[in-house]
Amino acid sequence: MPKSPLKIVVLLSGSGTTLQNLIDLIDQGRLDARIVGVIASRAGAYGLERARKHGIPSATVLRKDFADTPTFSAAVWTQIREYDPELVVMAGFMSLLDVPDDFANRIVNVHPALIPAFCGKGMYGHHVHEAVLAYGAKITGVTVHFANAHYDEGPIILQAPVPVLEDDTPDSLAERVQAKEREVYPQAIQLIAEGRVSVEGRKVHIRQGNA
Ligand code: GAR
Repeated sequence: MPKSPLKIVVLLSGSGTTLQNLIDLIDQGRLDARIVGVIASRAGAYGLERARKHGIPSATVLRKDFADTPTFSAAVWTQIREYDPELVVMAGFMSLLDVPDDFANRIVNVHPALIPAFCGKGMYGHHVHEAVLAYGAKITGVTVHFANAHYDEGPIILQAPVPVLEDDTPDSLAERVQAKEREVYPQAIQLIAEGRVSVEGRKVHIRQGNA
């Protein structure tokens, strides 16, 4: 059972709007978590600047410095363990990461579509919204799931739909999906912070709160 506030490490590769949302909600007392470290996989990721501004320790482990997923993962995990988190939060982290046994179901990811649609290798960020529009789907959405060592595959914690509108562009759709992410991702992390989430095979059970 996690103690509160939940100690989290955030992994990112880019602008870090997801990180910023978590920082803001924690500051407002709406998310019972503490970000104990941020790790970036790309040089110059603006998320690092956001961490610095808020006095959050950060590190960079560049994906391009490693030949393969196992060696990259080993370096990332060495850094994660230094921060000693209870939960690892992927926030626009664009690299595959191996998951050690003691972190199974302790890493979460947000994907900007309804898994198992529009996910997998190469399906990230704008590629997802372009694919949704090209397919003519009428509904897309947000999926928060536990991450395993495969793209977008682990047990699903929460999903929420977002309608596709007639005149949507990848940008307009991304904007609405990301607005939904800013609601649903912290909700899932809060449920974990409250110790209400358990996993049985692929199924995630959420215990009802007292409120
Ligand atoms: C988010 O929209 C997130 O859903 C997506 O990247 C964006 C990160 O934005 N993640 C994926 O596509 C993962 N497969 P950010 O860098 O501003 O937080």
